[in-house]
Amino acid sequence: MRSHYCGELTAKNISEEVTLSGWVHRRRDHGGVIFLDLRDREGITQVVFDPDRAESFAIADSVRSEFVVEMKGLVRARPEGTVNPNMTTGEIEVLGHELKILNRAATPPFQLDEHQAVGEDIRLKNRFLDLRRPEIQQKLRTRSKVTSILRRYLDDNGFLDIETPILTRATPEGARDYLVPSRTHQGSFFALPQSPQLFKQLLMVSGFDRYYQIAKCFRDEDLRADRQPEFTQIDLETSFLGQEEIMNLTEGMITNLFKELKDIDLGEFPRMPFSEAMEKYGSDKPDLRIPLVIQTVSDLMTDVDFKVFSGPATDPNGRVAALKVPGGNALTRKQIDEYTKFVGIYGAKGLAYIKVNDKSDLEEGLQSPIVKFLPNDVRQALLDRVEAQDGDLIFFGADQATVVNEALGALRCKLGADLDLYTCEWAPLWVVDFPMFEQTSDGGITAIHHPFTAPSCSPEDLKASPLTALSQAYDMVLNGTELGGGSIRIHQSEMQETVFELLNISKDEQEEKFGFLLDALKFGAPPHGGLAFGLDRLVMLLTGSASIRDVIAFPKTQSATCLLTQAPGEVSEKQLKELSIRVRKPVSE
Ligand code: AMO
Ligand code: AMP
Repeated sequence: MRSHYCGELTAKNISEEVTLSGWVHRRRDHGGVIFLDLRDREGITQVVFDPDRAESFAIADSVRSEFVVEMKGLVRARPEGTVNPNMTTGEIEVLGHELKILNRAATPPFQLDEHQAVGEDIRLKNRFLDLRRPEIQQKLRTRSKVTSILRRYLDDNGFLDIETPILTRATPEGARDYLVPSRTHQGSFFALPQSPQLFKQLLMVSGFDRYYQIAKCFRDEDLRADRQPEFTQIDLETSFLGQEEIMNLTEGMITNLFKELKDIDLGEFPRMPFSEAMEKYGSDKPDLRIPLVIQTVSDLMTDVDFKVFSGPATDPNGRVAALKVPGGNALTRKQIDEYTKFVGIYGAKGLAYIKVNDKSDLEEGLQSPIVKFLPNDVRQALLDRVEAQDGDLIFFGADQATVVNEALGALRCKLGADLDLYTCEWAPLWVVDFPMFEQTSDGGITAIHHPFTAPSCSPEDLKASPLTALSQAYDMVLNGTELGGGSIRIHQSEMQETVFELLNISKDEQEEKFGFLLDALKFGAPPHGGLAFGLDRLVMLLTGSASIRDVIAFPKTQSATCLLTQAPGEVSEKQLKELSIRVRKPVSE
């Protein structure tokens, strides 16, 4: 049904007889001549029908958008003045000789090139049409190229592609599980994997040495633009390699990908301790394209007559920090009010600022609602600390350190985008030296990565001081997005039991949930470690998409539903009975 793809015809094909098949992208009637833009996977070609050939002309007259047609015709140069330099096929058109309708189409709920006129819900409901858009086709092609390049790299480096189960037990990665009831063991449930973490570790115990998998993962968590309940990891694990070696190997994988796909040289990735990332960028995934840096000024504020600052400055968990925006004193009152509202989302109770009009005049040169609370020596020390210049604006956050970091960290990214402060297109880095644990609101502790991550110290030191212990974990960050994360694993059961104990997982629960892992660690587990990349996020960045939904063929909505298939859906009484499940209907309001 075709001799060429529509999108591959160029001036080289002039005078050739071709057969094309595809969809009618657009039909235009130009007073006696009918133009059909014919579309297939490779692009669009303009086809012309004139009334000389009455039969094909009549068919061309009758077709509508998204009809599927087959045509035969002659490639010719476009008449002078009608060449379209924006299309790869823009130099040619095909003079239609024959036209056959292969299938008709109902009027589509939206025109592909007017997709923005309808809401995303309509596009997701009709995803089979939405996916016809050349833009999305391009993104999914990029996705396919990415996995192919990554597979090749991993194959070349001795990794084996091994599948792990989807019907399994819980893998703790910090989200809720998706559960699947068992019919043959009533009252028991499978959990869908949040990651293949435990299985890949077992594969190392079994001696496979290097494993990878393009793995579907399932997490029932709050969704955002870069999170889906069902997503894909490039998951890998290695034996007998240390942290440095794993980081170098996977950094090589990403630099190789950018080089092959986009001819971009990412260079060597800088490495930053977690503590520095939090201190300077308020985030464990700093966007280093933005030059703004957060600076602690707590020590300058301990004695000032402004409780909002002196309180957090003297609280061991508090922080007073400054974010200098060079040239920022051009921001209007209204803009500052909007930023104040913005940081409120992150729990900040205000957003103090100083506009530096003339730094040599501490009395009149500083414009600010708070400067009256600061004695001159503090004003001077502050200007020195942030190396202020005339024309700068300094924002302040004062609160619990967690609130200040989140608020100023987010503000930094927002200012970067709003004021277009980016200094480069790509800014990768590794974040290292994460703490093992963090405190939960109920006073307990929880693992920052997952409970199989090895600490940098002995079990005794870990027990003595769990909250200050560091882990051998590492995250790869690109442009403020966490692309991947991994760690060296615990390979000795004594250490694993210590970590479970610190996490307050009882012996019984350890045995019940992770008995198989603890067993495996007793039978000659090699030192091992690995990492998993988020494929969707990687492709999102590579294609400049705003959301990972744009690079997933059939994504779910923010509320974790599939509008296309209407999943999740109700099931029949018979199915429920087979599973011994009785559904308690939620009480309607
Ligand atoms: P982690 O939980 O950090 O590590 O996940 C690894 C990477 O997967 C991506 N990711 C997601 N992408 C889309 N939607 C989500 N809901 C989502 N959650 C995570 C991120 C993240 O960096 N087993 C460990 C890896 C290891 O230690 O080897 C793990 O799953 O890009
Ligand atoms: P107030 O005394 O509450 O009017 O606040 C004076 C200035 O301090 C205003 O610009 C507030 O936005 C700012 N502010 C109040 N609380 C905080 C806070 N926790 N962190 C930073 N700035 C704040």
